[in-house]
Amino acid sequence: MEGLQTQMIGQPTHIFERVSSTNDAARTLAEQGAPHGTVVIAREQDHGRGRQGRSWASPPGGLWLSVLLRPQQPMPKWPRLGFAGSVAVAQALDRLLGVQVRLKWPNDLVLNGRKLGGVLLEASQGYVILGIGLNVNVRLSAFSQELAPMVTSLEEFLGHPVDLVGLTQEILRQLEEVLAAVQTDASRLMNQWRDRSMTLGQHVRVRGLAGSFEGVAEDIDDDGVLRVRTEAGVQHVIGADVSVREIREAKP
Ligand code: BTN
Repeated sequence: MEGLQTQMIGQPTHIFERVSSTNDAARTLAEQGAPHGTVVIAREQDHGRGRQGRSWASPPGGLWLSVLLRPQQPMPKWPRLGFAGSVAVAQALDRLLGVQVRLKWPNDLVLNGRKLGGVLLEASQGYVILGIGLNVNVRLSAFSQELAPMVTSLEEFLGHPVDLVGLTQEILRQLEEVLAAVQTDASRLMNQWRDRSMTLGQHVRVRGLAGSFEGVAEDIDDDGVLRVRTEAGVQHVIGADVSVREIREAKP
């Protein structure tokens, strides 16, 4: 991608008009031996995927991208990469557009209380696909009636379209920086996440395969595990298995 100025992330970048899911396209490339940092971008996805098996609406104008990472860290540390993704996007939006998003555990990007984007981390043997979805130049009318009240886009928020290529490049640059830093200092990444968190300190409901419970989200550790204090004691909540929904402000 011309003008990207990164060492690894986005070297190379594959751009498609339409794919099923950029995560699937990146996985195919991974299986063919594509290098760490390979990026796949599509203008549209037919079957975009979200967390927890949800589908992800991916109309033209949004940023739908996946990054192939071949981490040097052991697998238990890989969830950090999802946090690196959300922090990188948040920093890029801040620096380029002065837009400050909040992060909802684990990696939802929230603007004005509505979902602007999200991160989907899918691990395989020896590699991980970091999928990033961001509603950039998308009108709310492009979403279903059900979804429209819950989502927002940068165009909707700012009142004008933004330079999608410039924003993509800034996100990839930020991602490269954050990923380099996380190798040596994971707690710095988690502090960057905490600074933008809208989950910590809140009363939350955790929904998992084994049922749901409520409590106060107290903190995350360096691996992104959420610590929730419930009446029955402290519960540790792990990224891929549960969702968190804020239900009311925590009492002081
Ligand atoms: C979430 O549920 O919040 C995560 C959404 C992740 C969507 C992105 S769009 C690019 C990549 N390809 C997919 O199919 N999903 C991710």
